[in-house]
Amino acid sequence: MKWFSCYSFYKLPLKRERGPRPLPMEKQENYIESTWAKVDETFETPLRPQTLDDFSGQESIRQRLEVLIGAAKQRGDPISHCLFYGPPGLGKTTLANIIAKSMGTKLTITSGPILEKAGDLAGILTNLQDGDILFIDEIHRLNRVIEEYLYPAMEDFMLDLMIDSGPNARSIQVKLNKFTLIGATTRAGLLTGPMRSRFPFSCRLDYYTPEILMKIIMRSSKILHLPLEETAAFEIAVRSRGTPRISNNLLRWVRDFAQMKKTKVVDKDTVVSALDMLAIDFKGLDEMDKKILEVLIDHYSGGPVGISTLAVAVGEEAETLAEVYEPYLILQGFLKRTPRGREATVHAYSHIGRPIPSKFNSGETLV
Ligand SMILES: Nc1ncnc2c1ncn2[C@@H]1O[C@H](COP(=O)(O)OP(=O)(O)OP(=O)(O)O)[C@@H](O)[C@H]1O
Ligand SMILES: [Mg+2]
Repeated sequence: MKWFSCYSFYKLPLKRERGPRPLPMEKQENYIESTWAKVDETFETPLRPQTLDDFSGQESIRQRLEVLIGAAKQRGDPISHCLFYGPPGLGKTTLANIIAKSMGTKLTITSGPILEKAGDLAGILTNLQDGDILFIDEIHRLNRVIEEYLYPAMEDFMLDLMIDSGPNARSIQVKLNKFTLIGATTRAGLLTGPMRSRFPFSCRLDYYTPEILMKIIMRSSKILHLPLEETAAFEIAVRSRGTPRISNNLLRWVRDFAQMKKTKVVDKDTVVSALDMLAIDFKGLDEMDKKILEVLIDHYSGGPVGISTLAVAVGEEAETLAEVYEPYLILQGFLKRTPRGREATVHAYSHIGRPIPSKFNSGETLV
């Protein structure tokens, strides 16, 4: 087995955007959902924090949620509708679980693309009790018709349903129990204005610092009964792209590696060897990230080059490039998005060991 094939394991949570080969759209949706469910079930669930105290980082969101939950519990009201947005794997679903647990209510989970017909939504909404929480993942992918049904349900706890069609068509109003809607999205920009405005409480989750990720990794290692030194946890943390899900996935790989090497206590050297085998460098860049920078610098003189050209050159979908790889490369200061296309920065040249061109002599400097 080539180590390169482990790559998909490391990127498991992102598989939603990374099918093995392009499929027709409706098949792609099915593939996306089933893959996601599998990952969630087997590995993520035991590691998912159950209380706000266990949830590390995102300090301001935690504080706001403490107030929101505390006040709602004191009044005996359901909490207001919440929207969590931000990149994948940062804790949106986890927060929805924590809120339901803290409120002591039932959590019903669904996702935007699954809700195709008004009847699907009506079935779910009419089964909710007072205070229950409905979690809609990927809420930006709800179709517009369902969205229209959702508005009165969110505002007045009423559902306007159309019965029959043609001349017999009539509308009936169904009264709903007072539920809370929690929406999650990785693409807040694709949410419609009316939908966004119906969430009184909305929070953006940010990437985590290595120090916080180290805490998360130490907690996960205890759950997995893996003896891990703090310096080893920090080494995983700095290579985790600021994302707890990646931290946990890398930890799982390190556990396998340590087991095969018969290592009793995992130290920093073990982590470095394990992650070097996955070709994940000290900045968290993997083979595809490096390939993008290499193609940009070696084939296109550092850019600017259009995203679709770059995508073809590295053999990836333009959308995946834009959503999965670029944000981290931009965050790390290796790539720039300009109106004329993507450009490599001076840091990209030095990171992949290419001579720095003279065009950078006057402007950018290395730190
Ligand atoms: N703040 C945190 N503290 C500890 N663990 C966390 C935290 N945030 C996320 N995790 C871990 O990361 C995993 C992924 O988190 P989660 O499923 O909540 O991400 P998400 O934002 O819903 O991702 P997606 O957008 O892909 O649905 C969880 O299993 C959990 O163990
Ligand atoms: Mg989620």
